[in-house]
Amino acid sequence: MTDPRSHYEAHGQGHVFAHFDSLSPAEQQALLDQAAAIDLAEVASLHETLVTGGGVKDEDRTGDLEPADYIPLPGHSETANPSLWREAALKGEAALRTGRVAAFTVAGGQGTRLGFDGPKGTFGVTPVLQKSLFQVFAEKILATSRVYGRPVPWYLMTSVLNHDETVAFFERHHHFGLKPERVHFLTQGFMPAVDAGGRILMADRGEIALSPDGHGGALRALVRSGAIRRMEADGVDTISYFQVDNPLVRCLDPTFIGFHLLHESELSSKMVPKAYPGEKVGVFCQRGGKALVVEYSDLPEALVEETGPDGQLRYRSGSIAIHLFNRGFIERLGGGGGGNACLPFHLAHKKVPFVDGAGVRHEPAEPNGYKFEMFVFDALPFAKNPIIVETERADDFSPVKNAEGVDSPRTCRDDQLRQFARWAQAAGIPLETDETGLPPFAFEVSPLFADTETRFKKAWEALPHKPVLTEGLVLV
Ligand code: UTP
Repeated sequence: MTDPRSHYEAHGQGHVFAHFDSLSPAEQQALLDQAAAIDLAEVASLHETLVTGGGVKDEDRTGDLEPADYIPLPGHSETANPSLWREAALKGEAALRTGRVAAFTVAGGQGTRLGFDGPKGTFGVTPVLQKSLFQVFAEKILATSRVYGRPVPWYLMTSVLNHDETVAFFERHHHFGLKPERVHFLTQGFMPAVDAGGRILMADRGEIALSPDGHGGALRALVRSGAIRRMEADGVDTISYFQVDNPLVRCLDPTFIGFHLLHESELSSKMVPKAYPGEKVGVFCQRGGKALVVEYSDLPEALVEETGPDGQLRYRSGSIAIHLFNRGFIERLGGGGGGNACLPFHLAHKKVPFVDGAGVRHEPAEPNGYKFEMFVFDALPFAKNPIIVETERADDFSPVKNAEGVDSPRTCRDDQLRQFARWAQAAGIPLETDETGLPPFAFEVSPLFADTETRFKKAWEALPHKPVLTEGLVLV
């Protein structure tokens, strides 16, 4: 590898090596490796457009918007067609039986809002056993593999900041019953944080302040890492994308997969009607015939509140970050063999601790640094035949984002309990719940016992000795 120091000097980033001579040989090498992986021209141009230039103007983002069309759930709209839903389910089940589908979890985020010390996927979420998010997904994937008689490969994206800890966690837990050769880790790219003047911030004297390049980095990471090639070799053409923070997600939903395939869609997304106008979720819209997600903060106030003749919010389609990708689409968008960036970068203004040229460490009280991130939903306008499919929030979405309040471990636990209670009641088990559907005690249903209401009823009926539903009961 050539010494990047002169290159950094030429780009006005020579300060990155200010302490180079005082570093140990190993530290020097680590810094050289970090520096070599950064595209300084890209950093300079991002700083120029996003920080100095102020980025894309709001009116550019939101002009000419219309609400996006979506496929409504049966019973939720007069136009919903139950026979299409049945056809889609059959199509998706056939795809799972023939091994066309892989699960894909993006787990490279830093989870700063939750404030948990460790990769977010290792956080315990289930009501009784406090199973980790990773374990919940692993068991759901295993359950699907068993039902359809075909093991589903699982790809997980980590970042340089949590990769080793994530892999060690899986090894310690024997991959939660999955065959290790079917669990594939790939590491996403990273970007340096810069100050207002575009100078790269140093996390330490020999370490650049790096952060993962956003969940949109998944596309190029899938290509660069060779994961896409492996999928092709394994006959996988459909990638079921979900986030690490949502244990309610149906990791491999046959009906959603079926709709995706029937429409020959390159990118399909699930939506839920927003719970209230100001809910902080991206909204599916369209502009010029192209589907797109507009972030909640970018949707003009007038559109946030606007209602249609039916009294419903016009811009109601909330994005819950559950998608299906066609493999060829990722290959095309992720840069073919090269894995170049393809999606626009967004700017985040954050507090970034740093070490200055004199070696003094600063813990800023106010945001001082700029981070650059790609968002996966920015792929939507590039996709052919994209579709948006409605889902029941209660059966697909309850993320753990914050330590307390909305979307916290508490709300997520309660949502899991409500789901278990609904399944129990549907199976005829007497169970009193409050007006929100919450049972008075905590119990837990393992995905290996049942991962849907229908399978719960079947598994319950098949139990020779039915246990009494009480505090702490775990059905496995
Ligand atoms: P969030 O937007 O919730 O970000 O990520 P986060 O980093 O997990 O949490 P905060 O904002 O710091 O509190 C949504 C999903 O995208 C993944 C996360 O792991 C999560 O599954 N993600 C996010 C990545 O894989 N890489 C990234 O660079 C960013």
